[in-house]
Amino acid sequence: MDILAIESSCDETAAAVVRDGRRILSSVVHTQVEEHGRYGGVVPEIASRRHIEQIAAVVERALCEAGHTVYSVDAVAVTAAPGLIGALLVGVNFAKGLALAAKKPLVPVHHLRGHLAANYLCFPELVPPFLGLIVSGGHSHIVEVLDYTEYRVIGRTRDDAAGEAFDKAARAMGLPYPGGVSIDRLTPEGNPQAFSLPAPHVSGSEDDFSFSGLKTAVVNLVHNARQKGEKLPAADLAASFAFRVADILSEHTLRAAKRLNYRTIVLAGGVSANSTLRRRMQEVCGEEGISLFLPPLSLCGDNAAMIGAQGYYQLQKGYTADMDLNASACMEIDREF
Ligand code: KG4
Ligand code: ZN
Repeated sequence: MDILAIESSCDETAAAVVRDGRRILSSVVHTQVEEHGRYGGVVPEIASRRHIEQIAAVVERALCEAGHTVYSVDAVAVTAAPGLIGALLVGVNFAKGLALAAKKPLVPVHHLRGHLAANYLCFPELVPPFLGLIVSGGHSHIVEVLDYTEYRVIGRTRDDAAGEAFDKAARAMGLPYPGGVSIDRLTPEGNPQAFSLPAPHVSGSEDDFSFSGLKTAVVNLVHNARQKGEKLPAADLAASFAFRVADILSEHTLRAAKRLNYRTIVLAGGVSANSTLRRRMQEVCGEEGISLFLPPLSLCGDNAAMIGAQGYYQLQKGYTADMDLNASACMEIDREF
């Protein structure tokens, strides 16, 4: 079964054709990152406008590279939540038009489910249940993936998402957007022990985390140094920050896995590209004999192939939508459309 998938929840216009949820036939990603970089972050109005300009060509290319037309695929899957509402609406409306014209099932997909499903595209042996750590620009969740379309969130950030914390810390340091990438580039030259950054305490749930205190600590260090006319060693600060974030995420995920008896951990989302986090997760999972699945860098960030992978399993369960499908800026991962 070949599914055409469309993703436009943030600043990437993407389309892909995926076979049986596991094999990428084509994957096209048009990124707007350079344009948003000028403003230091994603400008929602610009994102929507660029999606409108790009979407037809991106979908056309994905179909063509897969040797398909919209009439020969079996279904159209689309990211319908969560994300920037104007950006999501472009993809949803385009997908609705295609599904209606070609008389194909329309499959709405939750963006974070898609991030997890990116792993199905490169690890044929990976099947639920497993414990997922989703770390993106807007979300940080520890999730039990009970089945392909069944989830239970057990931990989440109380404030900033991991990617957001990277982006804000980088911005304070004067590094270009996206900040996570800039910090990651600097870390190999830095000493992760140079700065002792706080590990914020969260009361109530040992699975929840908080990153805003950590981000504020970096902002304060930068401001204090600036006031004194001093220059901070950027690589040391970047390495210390990445080390602390990786430490918090790995500690929480491992503790949850041990308590709930999961022997498989799967990483997902843009921040799973972070080299410090990947290394730390490999170390701690290795020590505990837990199998760790890390998506290849090409599938960590936003793409449509992951939406096609998850769309396949949504369709298997009969989760299709009608022409009244709407996009939602916010939606929990354990809810259906
Ligand atoms: O999953 P994603 O592409 O988009 C959302 O769904 O939000 O995640 C984007 C986030 C950004 O905050 C970006 O700075 C972060 O992922 N990111 C990284 C790295 N690459 C992307 N953070 C740390 N290290 C990286 N190598
Ligand atoms: Zn994403």
